Amino acid sequence: MKFDSPAGDNLFDRSRIVGKSTSRIDGPRKTTGTAPYAYERGDEVANPAYGVILGAAIAKGRIRRMDARDARRAPGVLSVLLATERKPVGKSDWNLAPLFGGPEVAHYHQAVALVVAETFEQARAASNMIHVDYERTDGTFDLAAAAPAAEGADGNQDRSTLGDFDAAFAAAPVKVDARYTTPDESHAMMEPHATIAMWEGDKLTLLTSNQMINWAKTAMGQILDIPAENIRVDSPFVGGGFGGKLFIRSDAVLAALGAREAGRPVKVTLQRPLMFNNTTHRHATMQHLRIGAEADGRITAIAHENWSGNITGEEGEDGTMQTPKLYTGANRMTGNYVTQLDLPEGNAMRAPGEAVGHMALEVAMDELAEALDMDPVELRIRNDAQDRVPGEPSKRISDRHLTRCLREGADRFGWSARSVVPGRMREGRWLVGMGVAAGYRGGPTQTSGARVRLGADGKVAVETDMTDIGTGSYTIIAQTAAESLGVPLERVSVELGDSGYPVSAGSGGQWGAASSTAGVYAACVNLRRAIGEKLNFDADRAEFVDGEIRAGNQSFALTAAGEMSADGKMEFGDFKDDYDVGTYAAHFAEVGVDAYTGETQIRRMLAVCDAGRILNPLSARSQVIGGMVMAAGATLMEELAVDKRFGFFANHDLATYEVPVHADIPHQEVLFLDTLDPIVSPLKAKGVGELGICGPGAAIANAIYNAIGVRVRDYPITLDKYL
Ligand code: MOS
Repeated sequence: MKFDSPAGDNLFDRSRIVGKSTSRIDGPRKTTGTAPYAYERGDEVANPAYGVILGAAIAKGRIRRMDARDARRAPGVLSVLLATERKPVGKSDWNLAPLFGGPEVAHYHQAVALVVAETFEQARAASNMIHVDYERTDGTFDLAAAAPAAEGADGNQDRSTLGDFDAAFAAAPVKVDARYTTPDESHAMMEPHATIAMWEGDKLTLLTSNQMINWAKTAMGQILDIPAENIRVDSPFVGGGFGGKLFIRSDAVLAALGAREAGRPVKVTLQRPLMFNNTTHRHATMQHLRIGAEADGRITAIAHENWSGNITGEEGEDGTMQTPKLYTGANRMTGNYVTQLDLPEGNAMRAPGEAVGHMALEVAMDELAEALDMDPVELRIRNDAQDRVPGEPSKRISDRHLTRCLREGADRFGWSARSVVPGRMREGRWLVGMGVAAGYRGGPTQTSGARVRLGADGKVAVETDMTDIGTGSYTIIAQTAAESLGVPLERVSVELGDSGYPVSAGSGGQWGAASSTAGVYAACVNLRRAIGEKLNFDADRAEFVDGEIRAGNQSFALTAAGEMSADGKMEFGDFKDDYDVGTYAAHFAEVGVDAYTGETQIRRMLAVCDAGRILNPLSARSQVIGGMVMAAGATLMEELAVDKRFGFFANHDLATYEVPVHADIPHQEVLFLDTLDPIVSPLKAKGVGELGICGPGAAIANAIYNAIGVRVRDYPITLDKYL
């Protein structure tokens, strides 16, 4: 950590507020409908117009001609922006295809026009009057057909080896050699992408829904070719992101361009049927696992290869990411191969890589346990890497308790009741099975800043551009400030999501919680020091408790300081060369499979998580069970159906893209180990938002196998595949 913490500050180890289950401080606003989401912020906007995006009707090719004469004459229409009249914008490190402009079509439903009108209905009606003459070219849409070419090609493969995998695998007395596939998936968050754009002279305000405020501001500056300082991005409430809102999308770009053209504030949302093909998705994968072990279960050889595709032929879904981290084995190989596909852009979705990687690795481990005639919990414990990273032996692990997760989970779940032989447990018409999987997800951190203001009344206000995407950021930030300054939680208010506030880590890669609270702590320490200077005491040796400051034999009321404010920033980095920081879990699932109809019902799920200090067990649990639900969806039902002739996702709405509902998820339990990670941050905390989706899908798949004795390796595991 680059921030100079007070010597010996172990404030959070004797904490009263951080680490306690705390209801969301933003909960009342959300449950009463008074927390405004981007598209609802009309009250703050004078005289807005409505923009509707037209998506391309082909997956690949070019636009010969666009004719908008009818649309421009339609009632209420203020302006029409056509792709053919603009240079392409938006392709960058963040977005792999242009978000708008130019005659070339890179993927289906890429934005090709925006209609701005007085009402949404007028804009939508007029968008259907734009005549587009396309020249369609053939594209590559089938991963299975395109994948073999990716291996061995230049520039799109990434292979790492340790020892001699081939020899060790050949010599291993017990082995597994299996292939798995996972389909394309959609974030399908509740709140669609939406933006209201307003210009005042050369200054732009974007009221939007975004995970990473500073990335959004920087990207918009590049796209519009204006200084980023002239742009304000504001996103106080976000109705789900899951990675789909890490980067600005066409709603933000076209709202800004449309507002400039119309001379009015413009509101643009992506209609639900446009989102699935216009925005990003999780790429499909094909994975090949080979694991060799001694008869006692010790792994001697492990290889995990992964194929996926993307629009650029780069940036695939790397399912191998957890494999160098979880299990020992001296001879190893991982390969990640990306091929070019003309489908919509693949990009980050909750635990990119690991979420689907576990669905292959952790099923292969189950297959290995069976081949060894060994309990799958014991197999994992025998190969637990403990404190070294198997694929990178020079690195230590900051803090890891995977074996405890597995043991405590097995106890709690009643694992000993599992039948070793599949298909033997029956309750009435239900064949019952249990499955286990381990889980790993990195514990990344990003530089994060905040400002803390102390009022003359002793109230504390925190400001940072951190986002709360449903995760509970408001609450853990308030808890951190309350603890750090010794005031009750009710005296702390938190303002988030505005680019006018100090730049934070933002919400992504499960780095948000650990990073943003560390940044708030840094600002609080700076404020304590400023108060110490003003009142003449050594702040680093003082205690701030119950609205009082105790320094040696002096004591002050916190209000004695008067109005003050301080900025602070936490930088992380000096430990990253030496330590792997990860989060760990054991997942258990019990399913019933109807012996007559083949229907699968999840009966119980349990996650035991090791992720350092849990800042707010209540909201952390919500994160983990949300991940478990998403994993259940990935295992049992979610699949973007690729039309391989025309290159689009055919099921692009929530009627046909199936996600789990309450009836699919009867019982979930989450346990957190009481661990602390001393390396990662002053709060000794890591994230859990993505850990929850790493493993439960495999536990469910293994439970289905245990119930029926049929192994399905192509997700989702629908009954047509095992009947
Ligand atoms: Mo996450 S997929 O980095 O929002």
